[in-house]
Amino acid sequence: MSTKIKKLSPSDIVIFGGTGDLSRRKIIPALYYRLRDGQLPDNSRVFILGRQAMSDEEFTATSRKWAKEFIPAKDLNDIDWQRLAANMRYHQLDAKNAADYKSLGALLKDKPRKVRVFYLSTPADIFSLICTTLTECGLMTPDSRIVLEKPIGYDLESFTAINNAVLTCCREEQIYRIDHYLGKETVQNLMVLRFANNMFERMWNADAIDHVQITVAEEIGVGERYSYYDNAGALRDMVQNHLLQLLCLVAMEPPAAITPDSVRDEKLKVLRALRPVTDRSAKQDIVRGQYREAMRGGETLPSYLKDINVEKSDTETFIAIKVHVDNWRWAGIPFYIRTGKRLKDRYSEIVIQFKPVPHSLFAGQEEAPASNKLIIRLQPDEHVGLQVITKVPGPGGYRLKPVRLNLSLAEEFGERFPDAYERLLMDVVRGNLTLFMRSDEVEAAWIWTEQILTAWKNNKSKPDMYDAASWGPETAHSLLAHDGRTWHGGEE
Ligand code: BG6
Repeated sequence: MSTKIKKLSPSDIVIFGGTGDLSRRKIIPALYYRLRDGQLPDNSRVFILGRQAMSDEEFTATSRKWAKEFIPAKDLNDIDWQRLAANMRYHQLDAKNAADYKSLGALLKDKPRKVRVFYLSTPADIFSLICTTLTECGLMTPDSRIVLEKPIGYDLESFTAINNAVLTCCREEQIYRIDHYLGKETVQNLMVLRFANNMFERMWNADAIDHVQITVAEEIGVGERYSYYDNAGALRDMVQNHLLQLLCLVAMEPPAAITPDSVRDEKLKVLRALRPVTDRSAKQDIVRGQYREAMRGGETLPSYLKDINVEKSDTETFIAIKVHVDNWRWAGIPFYIRTGKRLKDRYSEIVIQFKPVPHSLFAGQEEAPASNKLIIRLQPDEHVGLQVITKVPGPGGYRLKPVRLNLSLAEEFGERFPDAYERLLMDVVRGNLTLFMRSDEVEAAWIWTEQILTAWKNNKSKPDMYDAASWGPETAHSLLAHDGRTWHGGEE
């Protein structure tokens, strides 16, 4: 595949929460790769902000250690790392202390680059404080961009408060609300698959499709993020953003163009068409789960409660929802979405299950009538599969068998798939908002999510337990079994 990389103009990239997990694991490696591959120019500057005191020498050694930990050895070479390190510096900053912003301002003012990116890799409750202080200290220029990590807020009210405060400091077009799922190659490929292949788009509706499944399964537990996670749960952490964004890309109408507002307008329409959740429908259509201790291959996997070291918590680590998009295209077609931690395996997948043919000429020749399925595997082994029904060769009449036509994207293109953060960070620098969420989109997602939170509260809902390293609670299987369906995927 020919790669066309256009070098961007130099920029100043300032990372709040720069010593945190996301920065070490994703943001700094992303900058390294983009510089190595010639997209980020050498004279871009990166300012890593953190609360602790650190000398330049200490930071050089620490950042080098991070690189070794989070960039695979085969990709990390000294010359390219030194090129990044030469323009990356540490600045001690307490988000509450205006004097620290002033000293940052002095650094930025020395030969400033036109584009200034403030990446807020911090808890959302200090987004407004940071933005207000940046404005008061005169650091927010007309070409500045603010990057906000999800989840923005805890509910609709807190989102609105944060969002309004940020909007008093800059224009909507300066705000890049990240949902890193939108930066994944395979997620972008979903738009290409739909809108560049005539055969799919013509069948992409309630006439031809039986239902859709979206699964984001994780093998890991909550890890060290327990204090955040126990307040968020799977609904706020994954559904409000990643899963709804995937659903939007599957369900939206073709945008007039791949421009930020055309795409975001269409996604917004989907969010607004989600069938409202009531106390009653929440009981029938939503499953909450929490993992409990279980054995796997002789090893004891701890329960969620043990992982976060508390006696009691009703936080869900798994959620499955039957969602309806109440519009012309999708009338009556369920979207089953689910996500969970400490499941049996890690994979993310979208499955479009087509309806069977209207009349089977081959009835009686097979045990279970099968139909076409389009399987879009987002990770880890990115591929697109199409299930078609074929005749088993040889005598014995028409014996039918579903087989899979598989396109492995890794094998086809034989290249490293850039991490989502690489694409998204470069889009921020070049000012392309297409893969970022607009204010009204996040708001619409919160409105719907909050209906679930309210229903759970009214219903005094408790999570159903599931064994660590399983496929979630039994009730998640009943959700589909009730409709005569089964989950596709890892279970097979
Ligand atoms: C993050 C969530 O947004 O996405 C995490 O906060 C989750 O809880 C992660 O583990 C999953 O991302 P990915 O790219 O590994 O699928």
